[in-house]
Amino acid sequence: MSRADQPAAEVDWQALAVAAQAAMQHAYAPYSRFPVGAAALTEDGRMISGCNVENASYGLTLCAECTLVGALQMSGGGKLAAFYCVDGEGNILMPCGRCRQLLYEHRAAGMQLMTVSGVKTMDEVLPDAFGPENLEVEEQQK
Ligand code: THU
Repeated sequence: MSRADQPAAEVDWQALAVAAQAAMQHAYAPYSRFPVGAAALTEDGRMISGCNVENASYGLTLCAECTLVGALQMSGGGKLAAFYCVDGEGNILMPCGRCRQLLYEHRAAGMQLMTVSGVKTMDEVLPDAFGPENLEVEEQQK
């Protein structure tokens, strides 16, 4: 089993669900009327969260994962160990394609996500991903 496949410590998924729903209450989604909340546990035990923030220029919308990653950086950085995302009714929501890439960048080894088909690892949610490792390899080849 590689380091990336190792399961993280026991995750309090209920606490993450509650934090994601609280974050969803802050969503600014006047265009889609589809509020989203996300919460994550960092490797060093912090709970962070984010909500979607839309824009009149639709394409500029920030997904909940975007503001969550901003919160990660602003609260000390580090890596994401566990992630939970909900829609306006509190249902589990899968991160969109772009946000899977965003989460991949900041994943801890063995990062887990609550998905519509149960707990999965980041590597299962975004298999064979392009990531920072690829650029580091190129850096070394220079
Ligand atoms: N949305 C998120 O916040 N995260 C996702 O992973 C999926 C989509 C938001 C963007 C937009 O404000 C609304 O959901 C409808 O697409």
